Amino acid sequence: MPGGAPPDARGRSKWPVASWVPWPAVLVRSQGLREVWDRLPTVGTRTFGRLAVISLVFESLILLSGAAVRLSGSGLGCADWPDCFKGHLTPPLRFHSLIEFGNRMVTVLLVVVVATAFLAALRRRPFRRDLVWLSGSLVVGILAEAVVGGIVVYTKLTPYWVMGHFLTTVVLLAAAVLLVHRASRDYSPGSGRLLVPRPMLLLGRGLVVLLGVVLVAGSATTGAAPDAGGAQGQDVARRIPVSLRAMAEVHATLALFLVGVALATAVALHALDVPERVRKAARVMVVVLVAQAAIGYTQYFTHLPALVVELHELGATALVIGVLQLLLAFTHHPREVATEELALAGGLAPEPAGVGGARGGARARPAVAFGGRDGSGGG
Ligand code: HEM
Repeated sequence: MPGGAPPDARGRSKWPVASWVPWPAVLVRSQGLREVWDRLPTVGTRTFGRLAVISLVFESLILLSGAAVRLSGSGLGCADWPDCFKGHLTPPLRFHSLIEFGNRMVTVLLVVVVATAFLAALRRRPFRRDLVWLSGSLVVGILAEAVVGGIVVYTKLTPYWVMGHFLTTVVLLAAAVLLVHRASRDYSPGSGRLLVPRPMLLLGRGLVVLLGVVLVAGSATTGAAPDAGGAQGQDVARRIPVSLRAMAEVHATLALFLVGVALATAVALHALDVPERVRKAARVMVVVLVAQAAIGYTQYFTHLPALVVELHELGATALVIGVLQLLLAFTHHPREVATEELALAGGLAPEPAGVGGARGGARARPAVAFGGRDGSGGG
């Protein structure tokens, strides 16, 4: 039954959270719940920013701990879900069980962290709808991940489900990067200013798409690689019916194309009159990308030692963050003044999201602005 936050005398919603959310009427009408909600402390912009960073750290950790499970051959270390073994929620003191169980524990912590971030977004002042959506999508995403993880176990590590599991995590990682970026910046309509010529913006978006393709091919390469899912290296899971060599060739060719486009982007940005921090973001991305390609070749020619493959996974995580950082750097959004600072400065009422300049220089002007305002740079 759809509801909606009840209006006050002036017709506005009394719940700053959400006249636009279809709250079930039963919740909206419950006076007790509303009072509890109103009594919850509000969250300042800086505190919310820290929560967003913690969410990003845990999203990265889950990618790496998931890889550790696969590479140590612990995928079936807990053969059931949600119990580790039928009737036992906790693992026996065995290496593979402990590794798989550790990964599940990181997942639980991640759920707690993103749920806290979501609640904090609802209580954040100033209230920001985009942050509620982003942190909410992290909660929904991680729950979906838990379901897919269960299917991975039930289907005995079928490579297509393992791919889906990995790629969903990448999407959540990207959402966490956006959350961190937006949490401290003004994203009100018209606040963005494009710092690069529009074709560069398109190139940046192309880089993100191309990275996505390389990641899909990479995860298919893993699906074609010898399985690490069984104890003592036995092949217990089906593999994608294509040779590792063929799949690795496709993946590496796409990766080299990505390196070429990234290098061209970086060179173009250095030739153009763009702020130094945009160029720096491009340099960082190129360094991470070249290192990642080198690790990729090393692991292929050294027959996939677990540690190097884990490093490749770390590189992929860093690259997702690096490419998105570059795209986001293309558009300038002024920093939002921390509500904590406003309170210290004499209890000023929080200004609308992102009013820059309480500290004079807080709203740094970019060296050059291309194409006027543009809020669409990086999402
Ligand atoms: C430079 C951009 C690159 C990116 C972003 C990238 C990313 C990835 C990703 C995400 C995976 C799958 C990890 C998983 O499913 O757990 C992967 C696997 C793999 N990549 Fe790359 N890769 C890159 C370059 C390369 C290159 C140049 C090679 C050279 C041959 C290579 C060889 C491999 C191999 C052999 C695997 C399978 C490893 C295994 O799971 O056993 N990669 N890559």
